[in-house]
Amino acid sequence: MKKVLVTGGAGFIGSHTCVELLNEGYVPVIVDNFVNSERWVIDRIAQITGQTPSVYEGDCRDTTFLSSVFEAEGGFYGVIHFAALKAVGESVAKPLEYYDNNIRSLTTLLAVMKKYETKHLVFSSSATVYGEPKSNPINEDSEIMAASSPYGATKIIAEGILRDVATSGADLATVALRYFNPIGAHPSGLLGEIPLGTPNNLVPYITQVAAGKRATLTVFGNDYETVDGTCVRDFIHVTDLARAHIATLEFIESQQRPYFDAFNVGTGCGTSVKELISVFNAVSGIELPHEYGPRRAGDIPVCYATNSKIINTMKWKTEFTLEDALRHSWQWQKNLDS
Ligand code: NAD
Ligand code: UFG
Repeated sequence: MKKVLVTGGAGFIGSHTCVELLNEGYVPVIVDNFVNSERWVIDRIAQITGQTPSVYEGDCRDTTFLSSVFEAEGGFYGVIHFAALKAVGESVAKPLEYYDNNIRSLTTLLAVMKKYETKHLVFSSSATVYGEPKSNPINEDSEIMAASSPYGATKIIAEGILRDVATSGADLATVALRYFNPIGAHPSGLLGEIPLGTPNNLVPYITQVAAGKRATLTVFGNDYETVDGTCVRDFIHVTDLARAHIATLEFIESQQRPYFDAFNVGTGCGTSVKELISVFNAVSGIELPHEYGPRRAGDIPVCYATNSKIINTMKWKTEFTLEDALRHSWQWQKNLDS
């Protein structure tokens, strides 16, 4: 039984990953300060899996707290580090909060992991590190561009820290997973994304419009040089993304330490915002009210992944379709409102 510390384990991707860890016989231990998650999420993980993970409420920047978790649990086989602030727009308004939270969490965690000789780390990175790519699909050798937001900068800096730690000869194997656009919800309808306030992301906004909580979706721009003028993204089901973390844990075990590498996690397919709306209409039976508005500052026209590196290196592939993801998101929204 391998014990895995999951920071941010009550959040959107972390909670789905805890379910998959439990399904695969791992023992997840959650650390979360609940700044962007709900405590009842833990009950839902238990309802789905029949097992309740241990939870420690606290902040990853707190060395004493984090050390006490490692002490109480007798150390960990590995860590999956999700804990971070993630709203791109908010990061522009509050850069110091983002640098402090996202960078200091990582450096504190790395120091505590070193003290307790923890040897495996999976880090949540993002396609945002590629900035506006020169071409698509994007592979891992693409240039890391200047960050387009403080949030993006924290991911670029974090990857740099992890690379430097490996270069220093640390007895640590780390993989940074660069997520593209995670969407969907657990097929049971018991877990999903819980946006605080107005959703920034497309799919939670769509499901709230469909549920009648918001009047209409504004599509940000229809004059891009794309298939239909709207932006193109790589939308990946959160359960497929969650399973990539389990595949990564299995993979890094066999790597000689020190080790650091980065892998894209996407479907390899680009879908336009307009295409996504029509798939949502088909799976929900609803004609989504939407209108076209101006471009959103900072949006890049096209961003989708080459996923051959992770597929060829690890035991992972996508299992869910875009239809599945949108059906699950819609089911989750209806359950959330009922
Ligand atoms: P989320 O906000 O749902 O989950 C993050 C969790 O971390 C929350 O439960 C929050 O309470 C917790 N947290 C934040 N700061 C903390 C701290 N200092 N100490 C302890 N807990 C803390 O976000 P998510 O969508 O699940 O994202 C998880 C990770 O994946 C983040 O690192 C995010 O940057 C990255 N990521 C997300 C997306 C996306 O679109 N959702 C895309 C790319 C990368
Ligand atoms: N969009 C709309 N209307 C909305 C919301 C979004 O038209 O109300 C459009 C956006 O303009 C964009 C697409 O839907 O073209 C996807 O937008 P999201 O906000 O859902 O996702 P992003 O691609 O902007 O951002 C995501 C993650 C970030 C990460 C980034 C990296 O949310 O964390 O991918 O590529 F940094």
